Amino acid sequence: MPHERFRFRTLDALAARITELGLDLPVSDDLSPLARRVRIGDRETPNALAIPPMEGCDGTADGAPDELTRRRYQRFARGGAGLLWFEATAVVYEGRANPRQLYLTPENAPAFAHMREEALAAGRDANGSDYAPFTVLQLTHSGRYSRPGAAPAPIIAHHDGLLDTVFNLPRDYPLITDEALDRLQDCYVAAARLAHACGFDAVDIKSCHRYLISELLAAHTRPGRYGGSFANRTRLLLDVVRRVRAEVPGIQVAVRLNVFDGHPYPWGWGVSTDDATTPDLEEPLRLIGLLQEAGVTLLNVTAGNPYYTPHINRPFDVNVVGGYTPEEHPLVGVTRLIHLARAVKEYSPELTVVGTGYSWLRHHLGNVAAAVMARGWVDLVGVGRGAFAYPDFARDLLTTGRMNARQACITCSRCTQIMRDHGRAGCAILDRAVYGPIYEAGRGGAGQ
Ligand SMILES: Cc1cc2nc3c(=O)[nH]c(=O)nc-3n(C[C@H](O)[C@H](O)[C@H](O)COP(=O)(O)O)c2cc1C
Repeated sequence: MPHERFRFRTLDALAARITELGLDLPVSDDLSPLARRVRIGDRETPNALAIPPMEGCDGTADGAPDELTRRRYQRFARGGAGLLWFEATAVVYEGRANPRQLYLTPENAPAFAHMREEALAAGRDANGSDYAPFTVLQLTHSGRYSRPGAAPAPIIAHHDGLLDTVFNLPRDYPLITDEALDRLQDCYVAAARLAHACGFDAVDIKSCHRYLISELLAAHTRPGRYGGSFANRTRLLLDVVRRVRAEVPGIQVAVRLNVFDGHPYPWGWGVSTDDATTPDLEEPLRLIGLLQEAGVTLLNVTAGNPYYTPHINRPFDVNVVGGYTPEEHPLVGVTRLIHLARAVKEYSPELTVVGTGYSWLRHHLGNVAAAVMARGWVDLVGVGRGAFAYPDFARDLLTTGRMNARQACITCSRCTQIMRDHGRAGCAILDRAVYGPIYEAGRGGAGQ
């Protein structure tokens, strides 16, 4: 069945389409698994719902959270999710994806601590004094997608037969050197130390969506110590994880990992060598085993490249302007993400696994999440775009047993469109008072 927009008012209608498509995607009326407390290392979440990292591109010039950043996390915490995964935060200036991306430094670390504390205080006001979500800070280097100033300034791990063309990069465009990657390890450790001082329970060594570490995982064609063999391609991630564990005791280490990116071999990771549309999890699972041995307690499974294969990354109704409409039905994309997370959980039952990519399911997402959790396929479910639109989704599911269909994300890609137009991202439909004008200004070419 080709692509179709969401039009399933009732759960029965959604279930009928799932059956028609022959998908292994369970639904349930019993939402009790969503209320489970979930163990992460020596901590426990208050429930099994999460908000994955969602950047708003709205920090200050020096990388501190600004007004809209703080507003976002207060809204998220008020919504009562059990795990808040704070957004992509650069570990070096040149690795920022945009001039407003968060960037953690000794000077602005108090502002990060304040953002977290005031969000948790807002959460306690709304959900009771014992509300204590697990908090993760995502640490990133944007690699090929770096744009710390007005123009893109790609830092690439290897040449890519597809993306080099998109970026107009010449064949002799230099690769980041092995020595620079060695030094980068120190920057991750320094940022983890700051995150610990700010009160975060964990840092995520971001390894997804084809940013630097994610691209390195696919660096089959790169010479030197960080390319070629599996050991070399995974070196930076594993070394950083081991060093954070050793040098910053007290903070847990999480990884948001692409297990499949849909890029053709030899530029892809987690893909079959002869078909970029077919996952091959042999290497990703081997890596996950090593990450667990190195002390990672929490893993968020994700996939795709938000720029190049967005339908794999975030199933949608409507793509950004100029983007393609995929041939596949969005339910196929949702099911793929769910089964990728299931494969990880089955391989590493001891690891706490978070699933993502549920927002297309709108107000039925809790019914799918609960069914998936009941089968033991995943421990927590994260809601990304859905949280921009409807930050109270968790509280509504947990206290009333339902989500209001009218408040659910419609996966229209306007939040992503704002990012592409270099604005400050949020929901232009359901948080219209703030983000409607930003969206309009970006579309009018004025940007933000
Ligand atoms: C506007 C926007 C910002 C995002 N920011 C981040 C980010 O900072 N880090 C990250 O790993 N993923 C980021 N993502 C991806 C989401 O976390 C999530 O994986 C994706 O939207 C699919 O989940 P969903 O269906 O619940 O939206 C972003 C997505 C959007 C649309």
